[in-house]
This record gives sequence, C-alpha cells and structure tokens, in this order.
Amino acid sequence: MQSEDDVQVLSRIIKARKTLKVLGDVNRSVQFTEENAELCNQKVIDSIKTAGWAPFHYNRDKNGLAEPWRVHVLWHEDCRNIANNFRDWFPDVKASNKLPAMLSACGALIITTWLPQFRGEDQQQEGVQNSIGLPKQTTIDDEHLAAAAAMVQNLLLLLTANSMGTYWSSGGQFRTPEMFDRLGINRSELFLGGVFVEYPGTVDESVERVSGKQRNNRSQEHAWLREIQLTGS
Ligand SMILES: Cc1cc2nc3c(=O)[nH]c(=O)nc-3n(C[C@H](O)[C@H](O)[C@H](O)COP(=O)(O)O)c2cc1C
Repeated sequence: MQSEDDVQVLSRIIKARKTLKVLGDVNRSVQFTEENAELCNQKVIDSIKTAGWAPFHYNRDKNGLAEPWRVHVLWHEDCRNIANNFRDWFPDVKASNKLPAMLSACGALIITTWLPQFRGEDQQQEGVQNSIGLPKQTTIDDEHLAAAAAMVQNLLLLLTANSMGTYWSSGGQFRTPEMFDRLGINRSELFLGGVFVEYPGTVDESVERVSGKQRNNRSQEHAWLREIQLTGS
C-alpha cells in the first residue's frame, strides 16, 4: 500500500462489489456496440491477468503451471449460443432455470476452476498429519482451493472497479461433465465459480436485476471478529 488514498479506494471497491444477477430475454438481444464490446472484453482480459496475482501456497505443477486455478472465458455471442441451445442440451432442467436468461444478458461469463492434487485418490491417505489430524494432502488441496477463491475475489473487485456488474454463481449445469466437454474444460478441473459480467451501458431497462440473497444478512463485524488477549502469560 502506498497511501491513505489507496486504502480508501480499495475499501470503497470492496464495499461496492455486490452480487448483481442480470436476467435478460433469450429472444431479445441486448445491444452491444462493437466498440464497447471490444473495450469491455479487453478490460475483462486485463482484469483476469491482474487477478492472477493472488497468493498461492503450493506449486500445483500441473502441465508445467504453478497456479492451482484455471480460467475459461465465454464472450457474449457464445453465451447467447449456449442460452439458445440450453434446453436441447439439458432437456430435464426446470422451466424456471435462470441460466438462459443470465447468459442472454451478460457481456461475458468467466468460468473459474481449481485443480485438486489429491482429492479423489484413496481416502485413506497416509503420510504426515497436520496439526488437526488431517492428512497433509487434504490441507494442500484446501489451500489450492483457497488460493483459487482469492483469485476470484481479486477478479470481482477489478471488474467492479471497471464499473461492471458481477455475479459469482455456483454454475448449475456448467458444473456438469457434459458442459465441461462441450466447453473443452478438462475433467480433472473442479468448477469453482461462474462469474457473470454485466457490461456497463449495454443492457436495456426490460432486464430484471436481482441482488444476492445473503447481501443483507451480514452481521456486525464484532460478532465474527475477535481480538485475542492472552491471559496469564
Ligand atoms: C462460492 C460462491 C458461490 C455462489 N453461488 C451462488 C449461486 O449459485 N446462486 C446465487 O444466487 N448466489 C450465489 N453466490 C452469491 C451469493 O448469493 C452472494 O455473494 C450473497 O448473497 C451476498 O451478496 P453480495 O455478494 O451482494 O454481498 C455465490 C457466492 C459465492 C462466494
């Protein structure tokens, strides 16, 4: 951190980040000027690259890469293609499924995954135990996931700073092996989040905007924050 201004700017962005589910109409295109789309696409790419400065504890060393995360971006046109094909690809989904509506309105969908190292192997893992008795391999995988989540939060903040709406979704059908295959995502990756990105100034007023269910369930910070004071030492 360089100055008080930096702290204030970052704090403001952290608080400004909020879940925004933007629901469009599959049969009605949102308007993107080519120029605006290109500019926003570039900002998304830049944000993803910067988000990659998240901390990670272990060298995951998969395909020669140390990072425990992977990022797959779908631009608006392909999001719409998926929206249009969605009911054919997943005929059993409920009519109320919101993914086609969200795919219709977003400028981009950023799929983030993480790469477990040991999960799925023999559960009777042997080896060094950590301080709470879990096998060390479990801790390493937990930390790969934690690092990937830190990358996603970086991404949300950067997109917010770019005046873009964001929604971290658990993904629904995007988690399925069938969708992984369609999108060319290796099945050894585990889905972490689908970040729907709303581009500024591109969505008409007919779209519905929904906040996150937990937005107002936040507690007073002192309820989960504790300052330790060691006694008798
Ligand atoms: C790992 C993760 C997965 C999420 N998945 C969903 C989801 O599938 N559906 C949903 O409505 N919200 C999802 N959310 C967003 C939360 O609902 C949202 O963060 C919460 O309501 C708080 O609102 P806020 O983000 O505006 O602070 C997810 C958030 C996280 C961190």
